Amino acid sequence: MQTGLEVRGLSKRFGGLTVSENIDFDLAAGDRKALIGPNGAGKSTFANLVTGLLAPSTGTIRFDGQDIRRLNEEARVRLGIAKTFQITTLFRKLTVRENLRLPLLERQRRGFEMSRAAHRDAGIEAEIDALLQQFALTSLADRMVEDLAYGQQRLIELALTLALRPRILILDEPAAGVPSSETHLIVDAIEALPDDLAVLIIEHDMELVFRVARSIVVLVNGRILTEGAPEEIAANAEVRELYLGAGHA
Ligand SMILES: Nc1ncnc2c1ncn2[C@@H]1O[C@H](COP(=O)(O)OP(=O)(O)OP(=O)(O)O)[C@@H](O)[C@H]1O
Ligand SMILES: [Mg+2]
Repeated sequence: MQTGLEVRGLSKRFGGLTVSENIDFDLAAGDRKALIGPNGAGKSTFANLVTGLLAPSTGTIRFDGQDIRRLNEEARVRLGIAKTFQITTLFRKLTVRENLRLPLLERQRRGFEMSRAAHRDAGIEAEIDALLQQFALTSLADRMVEDLAYGQQRLIELALTLALRPRILILDEPAAGVPSSETHLIVDAIEALPDDLAVLIIEHDMELVFRVARSIVVLVNGRILTEGAPEEIAANAEVRELYLGAGHA
């Protein structure tokens, strides 16, 4: 049985507009893949097809050999396919620790105990401590989210998503809006992810991509232009033209 994610011949059309075209893509435990490409190339659409936010027009998506096309987002999260929370889903007036408690309680299907007064569960608190430590957020645990730097807020999104214990983690522009002085926080956090997690990073910041990705997929107009090791992609004339413009390649 094939383990991990296996996408074959995936296409997505919005009316007459083809946004994903015949995409073949694999993601296995331990992978660190980046998906790059110009604005509008279809990167987020691809991510949304994998997570179940969007339904494909044609093609197959399998996870551990199971056809998951008909599963909704929630069912796919339960299987272990997660995309990072967006910063807008953080509770700005709650502390970092309180924010982290929510998905853990949720995971235990105790969503109705999510108030600030929720009784403390030692297992959950220990897991929060481990997440805080993993993302170097321990000293910020009791600070309100809105008082943190933007880069730190994005780390909390990552920690929140990891609390779901995914097997596949999709990061759609983890460094977007993060000042360059804080980008290292994101790089460190990605490097601190569990080794066996399968990670797909969609990102425009090429410095970040080349630091964390071991394989890069280039998407242009909904199609995969090429896929390869970072050195190969950096040396690819078509990719260079795409990013540097003709004349600089
Ligand atoms: N729901 C939708 N209905 C119609 N067209 C859509 C829809 N969602 C996305 N598109 C179109 O699909 C194309 C790909 O969009 P997508 O957001 O996937 O690109 P992207 O590669 O993530 O771009 P960016 O780098 O700017 O985030 C764009 O032309 C976009 O306008
Ligand atoms: Mg996008």
